[in-house]
Amino acid sequence: MASITIRQLDDDLKRHLRLRAARNGRSMEDEARTILRDAASLEAGKIEARADAHRRAAPRGRHVADAPAREAGAAHAAGTKHILLVIGGGIAAYKALDLIRRLKERGLAVRCILTKAAQEFITPLSAGALSGERVFTDLFDPGSEFDVGHIRLAREADLVVVAPTTADLMAKLAGGHADDLASAVLLATDRKVLLAPAMNPHMWQHKATQRNLARLLEDGVALVGPSAGEMAEAGEAGVGRMAEPLEIAAAALSLIGHGEGALEGRRVIVTSGPTHEPIDPVRYIANRSSGKQGHAIAAAAAAAGAHVTLVSGPVNVPDPPGVAVVKVTTAQDMLAAVTKALPADVAVFAAAVADWRIAKPQANKIKKGAGGSPKLALTENPDILATVAHDARKRPRLVIGFAAETEHIIEHAKAKLARKGCDWILANDVSAAGGAMGGERNTVHLVTAQGVESWPPQSKEEVARGLIVRIAETLAGAKR
Ligand SMILES: Cc1cc2nc3c(=O)[nH]c(=O)nc-3n(C[C@H](O)[C@H](O)[C@H](O)COP(=O)(O)O)c2cc1C
Repeated sequence: MASITIRQLDDDLKRHLRLRAARNGRSMEDEARTILRDAASLEAGKIEARADAHRRAAPRGRHVADAPAREAGAAHAAGTKHILLVIGGGIAAYKALDLIRRLKERGLAVRCILTKAAQEFITPLSAGALSGERVFTDLFDPGSEFDVGHIRLAREADLVVVAPTTADLMAKLAGGHADDLASAVLLATDRKVLLAPAMNPHMWQHKATQRNLARLLEDGVALVGPSAGEMAEAGEAGVGRMAEPLEIAAAALSLIGHGEGALEGRRVIVTSGPTHEPIDPVRYIANRSSGKQGHAIAAAAAAAGAHVTLVSGPVNVPDPPGVAVVKVTTAQDMLAAVTKALPADVAVFAAAVADWRIAKPQANKIKKGAGGSPKLALTENPDILATVAHDARKRPRLVIGFAAETEHIIEHAKAKLARKGCDWILANDVSAAGGAMGGERNTVHLVTAQGVESWPPQSKEEVARGLIVRIAETLAGAKR
C-alpha cells in the first residue's frame, strides 16, 4: 500500500491543509485523516445527499471542503448530549478550557464559539484541541455559512453555555443584538441558555448590568454564579468571580436532565413546609413557609430516580409526582414520620419547623373574657435535624439542613452546621427583601466543612436540581 507524508504534498496543498487544520483545531495529520474519512464516507454514498445540497448552495468557486461541523467533528455515541460553549472575552476565559475538560469527562460533546475578545485571552487552537471539535469564531465564515451555519449551531446543541459571560455579552443578549457569531447564535437558539457571568464587581453591580440580568432572568436564561471572592485585578474583591468549572458543569448537567438516574436505588427523605403548633382547636402558631423549595427538592430527587419520602407540613402546593408523601401538622409528628422513614441515604430538612410549641394546648377554644389576654407558655420542639444527624444507628450518609436567616446568614449557617452535626447547610435569606418565603426564587449559600459556595438567585426548581446533582456526585464519590 502506498504511503504518503505531509512533507511530500506540494506547497499549495500544504498551505491549504495548514489553514484548514488551524481553523478546525487539529494537527495537519488529523486534518488529512478527516478529509480522507469524509471522502470515504462520500464514496460509500453516506453523505452524498448532504454534499449535493452543499454544492448547490455554495456559490461558484467557493471552497466547500469544510463538511458540516458535526460530520467534521469527533464521532459521538448515539444519545450523547451536545453543549455549545460560547466563550466571552474576560480573564476567566482560561477557566473555560477546564470547563471543556469537565464537560467531556461527564460524557458530553462540546463545541465552542470564541468571541473576538475571547481570542485575546485564549486561542481557538486550545479550545479545539480540548473539545476535539472545530471551533467557530466568525459570523461571516464562508466555510460554515454556506448553509447558514450559525442557525445550525444554535439548533444542534442541547444546551448553550456562555462562560465567561461578559458584561458586554449580557447587554447584547438582553438587547437582542446579533452582530457577531456569539450573539447571533444566542438570539437564534431555541435551547436553554446557561450564563456564567464573570466580571469586575463594579461592572456586576452597575445598574445597567443588573437591569440586563433582570431582563435575562425574565426571558428564562439560567444562571450559575457569579460568586464572591478575590478578582484577577490586584486588591479587588466582591461578587463577580465566575463559578468554578465543576459548578458550571453540574448546572449544565442538571439543565439537560443528565442527572436522570443519578440517584437510582437511593432512598431520600425530604421535609417541607411549615409546622402548625396548636394553641387550641382553632388557633395555631405557624410561619410563612410555602413548601415550594422542599417539594421541588423531592420532585428533583424522584426525577433522578430516588425513592423519595416527603414529610410535609400543611401546604397549598401539589404533591410532587412519584413521591411518597406523609402529611403531618406539628414538629413532633414530623419527627415521628422522619424516624419511621429511616434508614435513608440522604435526608434533606427543608421544612421550617416551629422552634417552640404551646406547652399546654387547650382542648376547647380559649374564650375572650374578663381574665384578660391568655398567657401562652412555650416549650421547645424536638430538633429534627440534630436528632437525625446524631442518630448513631440510622444516620443517613448525607444529612442536609436549611438555615432560614434574616441577618449574618453565612455566620449563622456555619454555627448551625457545627452545632447540629449535619454535613451541609443551605442557608437562605428569608428577610422580606430576600423574598424567599413563599416566593418562586431562592438565593442560597451551600455551607460545608470545605467552605461556602454562594449560588446565584434562581428558581426553587433550579436550586433543587443543583442540589440533587451535588448529592449524586457526593454519593458516587466523584473526584473533585
Ligand atoms: C485584560 C482585560 C480583562 C477583561 N476582563 C473582563 C471580564 O472579566 N469581564 C467582562 O465582562 N469584561 C472584561 N473585559 C472587557 C471585555 O473584554 C470587553 O467588554 C469585550 O468587548 C467583551 O467582548 P465579548 O463580550 O464579545 O467577548 C476585559 C478586558 C480586558 C482588556
